[in-house]
Amino acid sequence: MELINRPRRLRANPSIRKMVRETRLSKAALIYPIFVEEGCGIVTPIPSLEGQTRYSPDTLHLELEKVRKAGVPAVLLFGIPAHKDQYGSSAWAENGVVQQALRAAKRDFPDLYLITDVCMCEYTSHGHCGILDGREVDNDKTLEVLAKTALSHVQAGADMVAPSDMMDGRIGAIRERLDRYGFVNTPIMSYAVKYASAFYGPFREAAGSAPAFGDRRSYQMDPHNRREAVREAALDVEQGADILMVKPALSYLDVIHEVAGSFDLPLAAYSVSGEYAMIKAAAKAGLMDEAAVACEAAMSIFRAGADILITYYAKELAGWIDEGRIG
Ligand code: PBG
Repeated sequence: MELINRPRRLRANPSIRKMVRETRLSKAALIYPIFVEEGCGIVTPIPSLEGQTRYSPDTLHLELEKVRKAGVPAVLLFGIPAHKDQYGSSAWAENGVVQQALRAAKRDFPDLYLITDVCMCEYTSHGHCGILDGREVDNDKTLEVLAKTALSHVQAGADMVAPSDMMDGRIGAIRERLDRYGFVNTPIMSYAVKYASAFYGPFREAAGSAPAFGDRRSYQMDPHNRREAVREAALDVEQGADILMVKPALSYLDVIHEVAGSFDLPLAAYSVSGEYAMIKAAAKAGLMDEAAVACEAAMSIFRAGADILITYYAKELAGWIDEGRIG
């Protein structure tokens, strides 16, 4: 057989396979999401997200210790307040749950990179991501509370803010507010391309943030659209975003690829609660090898073009990278 090209030559053993890999994973690119609940002494497992736990600001160090040990450099904090109102006012309270958590984390873990999710849905009594005008979210009124919330997070110690609300103009509004208060060097990671996805189901149970009526389709993107993703990202680049994000990840690998090729900013992908929960459930049912599938899924997101991965598997992935299962 006269075959010149034999791709199998480069698959012969682990050494050569690893040498020619096109995608490499690093722990430095992982971000771990954590839910912080207002109160004291809270360490509550989250039923919809097996393996994930809610902490209060005073117990958060238990989790951050594990994150540090795993070698994951950054966390993304979500707040669950004790009191909700129609404006979501505990989102920007000086002693709000995220603000308390940030101060404690900065004090005890000065090397950990602290990112906060900036959104209103966990704080509003109606569960929508902004201020309501009747039954609609009022875009421009919401910009003010998002800017206030982002500023209060940064004042409490956030290294970076990540607005996830999908209002038009929020990146510009937040950038202007941070700059006005002297935080010109604090980056914004924009949830630039966030779809109205059913994959957020387990998160909404975890964070108690499901909308009381209606849905989020008037502000989050329609999953049918790809060109619109580039338009959304371009608007955020113009307004000063430092990092772009696509969310969810696995059903949107084409979008990750498109956005990665269209802009020169770092690109994050958020592998959301439903993606994690599906792998957990399938593994529990004995249908798949959890570690192998979680590694393959994470790798596919980087292969599509993401530079950064936000995932509930961050600690485990760090371990699998250390073991050489993936990387
Ligand atoms: C808040 C927010 C959501 C997620 C991240 N930030 C929920 C939503 O938009 O309904 C989802 C994260 C996940 O599913 O893991 N707006």
